[in-house]
Amino acid sequence: MAFFDIHTHILCGVDDGARTEEEMHGMLRAAYEDGTRAICLTPHYSPYLFGDTSASSERAFERLRIYAEEEYPDLELYLGHELGYHESCVQALNDGRCRTLGGSRYLLVDFPAGVGFFELRSAMDRLLRMGYCPVLAHAERYRALGHRLGWVREFVENGGLVQLNATSAVGAFGGFSKRQWVKFVKQRLVHVIGSDGHNLDSRPPKMSACLPMLEKYCTPEEIGSLMWKNAQTLLHNGRI
Ligand SMILES: [Fe+2]
Repeated sequence: MAFFDIHTHILCGVDDGARTEEEMHGMLRAAYEDGTRAICLTPHYSPYLFGDTSASSERAFERLRIYAEEEYPDLELYLGHELGYHESCVQALNDGRCRTLGGSRYLLVDFPAGVGFFELRSAMDRLLRMGYCPVLAHAERYRALGHRLGWVREFVENGGLVQLNATSAVGAFGGFSKRQWVKFVKQRLVHVIGSDGHNLDSRPPKMSACLPMLEKYCTPEEIGSLMWKNAQTLLHNGRI
């Protein structure tokens, strides 16, 4: 099965992902060997942590694109951002410094792990009102959503989407995230899976990690949607 990894930090020298050109190439190889055949590069857009990553990510993407064309001709690459939500992000979205996923209307959105529920909800409402389809990054990691899957359902009904990290299924982010991961999957409150890969050792771009867990709860057709089809539809600005 081929995977579409919609959430990665493979671009080098942009955020807290790959630190060198070699590591960037190594991560691409690891992803390819794991079975990934399409990747959306999503460096953080969190100016308070990493500065403005719009130009640096574009340059790194161009280098990676040329490299991949040569080494892995059947690998598709797309460019986006992972928006660290903050009041000031509206300006960055309006003037294009913060990118959506591959230029679609879908926007990958991240919050600090300790974000409060009401803060998260009002941010998502705001992005929906602005006309974006927010994709909540690694939704299983937020404590604020521990007892709020009812809101998640409402969010999805209003046009929001949910992304889960592949390695949370095997406990890479602790017991809470693993339990939440299973709840999201069982309640069909997930649309796309990403590796959120940051490096080669502690956070590798490993999509296959979640397959045994998905096979427990989902049909082969559902797994195909979560691991490939939905991401592809979204990157081409289609409707899920
Ligand atoms: Fe991320």
